[in-house]
Amino acid sequence: MEKIMIIGCSGQIGSELTLELRKIYGNENVFATDIKMATKDVVKSGPFQILDVMDDKRLIHFVIRNKITQIYHLAAVLSGNAEKLPMQAWDINMQSLLNILDLAREVDDLKKIFWPSSIAVFGPTTPRTMTPQLTVMEPNTVYGISKLAGERWCEYYFNRYGVDVRSIRYPGLISYKTEAGGGTTDYAVEIFYDAVKKGKYECFLKEDTNLPMMFMKDAIKATIDLMEAPASKVKIHSAYNVAGMSFNPANLAVEIKKHIPDFEISYKPDFRQPIADSWPVSIDDSVARKDWGLSYDYDIKSLTETMIKGVSEKLKTD
Ligand code: SER
Repeated sequence: MEKIMIIGCSGQIGSELTLELRKIYGNENVFATDIKMATKDVVKSGPFQILDVMDDKRLIHFVIRNKITQIYHLAAVLSGNAEKLPMQAWDINMQSLLNILDLAREVDDLKKIFWPSSIAVFGPTTPRTMTPQLTVMEPNTVYGISKLAGERWCEYYFNRYGVDVRSIRYPGLISYKTEAGGGTTDYAVEIFYDAVKKGKYECFLKEDTNLPMMFMKDAIKATIDLMEAPASKVKIHSAYNVAGMSFNPANLAVEIKKHIPDFEISYKPDFRQPIADSWPVSIDDSVARKDWGLSYDYDIKSLTETMIKGVSEKLKTD
């Protein structure tokens, strides 16, 4: 019987992943935790507790008391916010991961860890088109540096201590259930809220800034598929490239106009533009496809339709 702990259940990924895992493993077997209050759906459907991943003593008690067998550690400071307080972001992103990896080494019941990496591990010297799984990695943001160091630690704990830790380099994630916070790819979420609410959006990236993106449903599916794959199929213990789709703000505006014809977009690039410029425009995900069967259901068209519908309904009920 799996007992799954989610750290960061109130965030953009956690709020949806928790519900999906509860459908698979049973509500009572998925323990949601965060330093902030979770969504109503998470609180109503199963166990939820306020817990700080930096508090290693409470963390270990929680894991032992609840006989946790898997942890999804999703808590992190994203790229834009990390640039504002680099040392704090480094501390939170690194120390929390090391707390979890150490726990997995020490606690026998705890068999599997998921930790998200990001396209931010790549940098300006990386080939930007169809970025390969193995390539030059010289990130120049504190978030990217912490994710790359995290990948190295994950692989180290696998090789040295046999910790089964699995990871994906997520592209920008797009969803409407919980808003993203502090990322460079967040424009692709904000744009839908402003399109529905105001019919216009001022974008903090330039119109031709191509980035890899993914709809949350595809991200959740990829995450669970990777975690459920037999260990023999998981050959990479740093993190897998995942591509999703690639587009720029102008492409997205064209799709939105098909639903909201008067939608207007303007551009006012800020400090996140150089971050986006240092990341890939498209990703080669052939290794994940081959190893554990990565696939997607959404493209820019179905993503736009689903987002407009989802955001409109959310704004009515909030
Ligand atoms: N979406 C994240 C960010 O923009 C990248 O992992 O920070």
